[in-house]
Amino acid sequence: MQMEQLVALCKRRGFLFQSSEIYGGLNGFWDYGPLGVELKRNIREAWWRDMVTSHNELVCPPEAPSPYEMVGLDAAIIMHPQVWKCSGHYDQFHDLMQSCKYCKKLFRADQVGDMLRESEWVLSLAEAIGFQLEDSRVLARADALHRWLKGKGKKFAPGLAAVQQLEQADGGAQSTSQLAEQSCSPWELLARLSSSDQGGNGLRLPCPNCGGSLTEPREFNLMFETYVGAVRDEQSKTFLRPETAQGIFVNFKNVLDSTRVKIPFGIAQIGKSFRNEITPRYFTFRSREFEQMEIEFFCHPSTSPAWYRYWRDRRYQWYVDLGLAGDRLRLRDHGPEELSHYSCGTADIEYAFPFLPPGQFGELEGVAHRGDFDLRSHMEGKLARQNGGFVLERTPTGEPKYRGSGKDLTYYDDQTQERYIPHVIEPSAGADRAALAFLCEAYAEDEVPDEKGQPTRRVVLRLHPRLAPIKVAVLPLVKKEGMPEVAQEIYGELKRHFSSFYDEKGAIGRRYRRQDEVGTPFCITIDGQTLVDGTVTIRDRDSLRQWRIKKDECAAELRGRLGF
Ligand code: GAP
Repeated sequence: MQMEQLVALCKRRGFLFQSSEIYGGLNGFWDYGPLGVELKRNIREAWWRDMVTSHNELVCPPEAPSPYEMVGLDAAIIMHPQVWKCSGHYDQFHDLMQSCKYCKKLFRADQVGDMLRESEWVLSLAEAIGFQLEDSRVLARADALHRWLKGKGKKFAPGLAAVQQLEQADGGAQSTSQLAEQSCSPWELLARLSSSDQGGNGLRLPCPNCGGSLTEPREFNLMFETYVGAVRDEQSKTFLRPETAQGIFVNFKNVLDSTRVKIPFGIAQIGKSFRNEITPRYFTFRSREFEQMEIEFFCHPSTSPAWYRYWRDRRYQWYVDLGLAGDRLRLRDHGPEELSHYSCGTADIEYAFPFLPPGQFGELEGVAHRGDFDLRSHMEGKLARQNGGFVLERTPTGEPKYRGSGKDLTYYDDQTQERYIPHVIEPSAGADRAALAFLCEAYAEDEVPDEKGQPTRRVVLRLHPRLAPIKVAVLPLVKKEGMPEVAQEIYGELKRHFSSFYDEKGAIGRRYRRQDEVGTPFCITIDGQTLVDGTVTIRDRDSLRQWRIKKDECAAELRGRLGF
């Protein structure tokens, strides 16, 4: 599947629109249209139902170390600024950024290499002088390189130092032949072409957009700032939350005191998060406003490794159950160098999104063992790593760098009479990334017979029925002979139970294909025979099988087939 086809379908059928499109759009922000909002709501509801409301705390789930409880929370998006100082986000939630001195575009330093692989000017250069970025060495022919620099290079990579030097009256040809003489790696060639010092000292990768030279990487905090109240100063500055998790940690004691939950238990939350991503891209994959579905699971330190394994596997299976295929979905343990500042173990659930280069996977969800980092930080103050553990971070004069709440966030087990700071396992999923993965996985094109039995191409979204925005479409075969009246009656009944759609316009084959394209699992057709014997046809989106049922039994039939 080409990503452009899915993007076009999402726009055409009302799944996703660019935010503020009539004003030219706002990069990194997306609006869900009438069908998209249903899809995302179904994802959220499947998650909430499977993780929270239908969870039975009296029975030990298969593979779980013990029975456990789950409760929900909905915390505010804007919280006290001290939350972000103690959590580490204020000081550490940075990406390294580089900007182009020529075109002024900004890039995430760790993405420059990937972006160069897709860059128009790099692809054109590689074609002109015959190399691939994967090659170990390349020897550029001086004449081919010279031609490219004067032609396509000048057009597509005006910021490239070698293009600019060629523009100058003297020395251009000489430096080109100097560059072309030496065999080097393709990456080194790119760096040399972009450097005014083409001898190779202090080489840095060029701008993926125009070939210009990039600044030194510098830190950029991803939190959106805002001000609370009428006065805009440092005191009133706070942030839009970059994760929902902290709202759970700061409410840990409130939940303990207001419910009868006992460890082990989890607090679940779904909500918007905001990150001022430097380069939002890949459709909704990396957005600046997105929705998270997070669980903070509190357990005794001694049982935390077992709970970590349980949640890793449980969350992976959730995606499999909702239709993500085996080889495009994987569970990957982080190496020690990848771990976040708080984490003592993380696994990512990843999907091979079609917009990524072959063999690359994108993160859908992270499952992290956060130890006692967060609760301790909100009690004592911001922690820093030391000798494999965490200690309170202090200023040069010995003061705590950021003071915690000073509140007691320990847990007292009245059976064992032990007091301890619980350890936390955090399965943290993105609702928008899940929606994108389900859409990518569901998109298919195949051939089906039309009304005359001739093969015709169709686009079909093979969404899991739980996720499909519309569960059933009710279609009178023709718009006369009393068929619409019967169809409307059935529609009225079904709408009380399922998300249903009524359509009487156009040829029946075209109406089926419109439903296939948005993933509707079942269509019910009212035809001449309905008027005679009260039966209707039900059609299955995937198998295309059609069978007849009594019109009064539509709801029961669908309930059986949809499983809810
Ligand atoms: N509380 C931990 C946490 O926030 P994360 O890996 O930064 O961890 C968790 O985010 C999930 O949130 C990711 O796996 C992803 O699904 C989603 N997510 C993060 N940044 C995102 C972005 N810019 N756009 C869309 N989804 C994002």
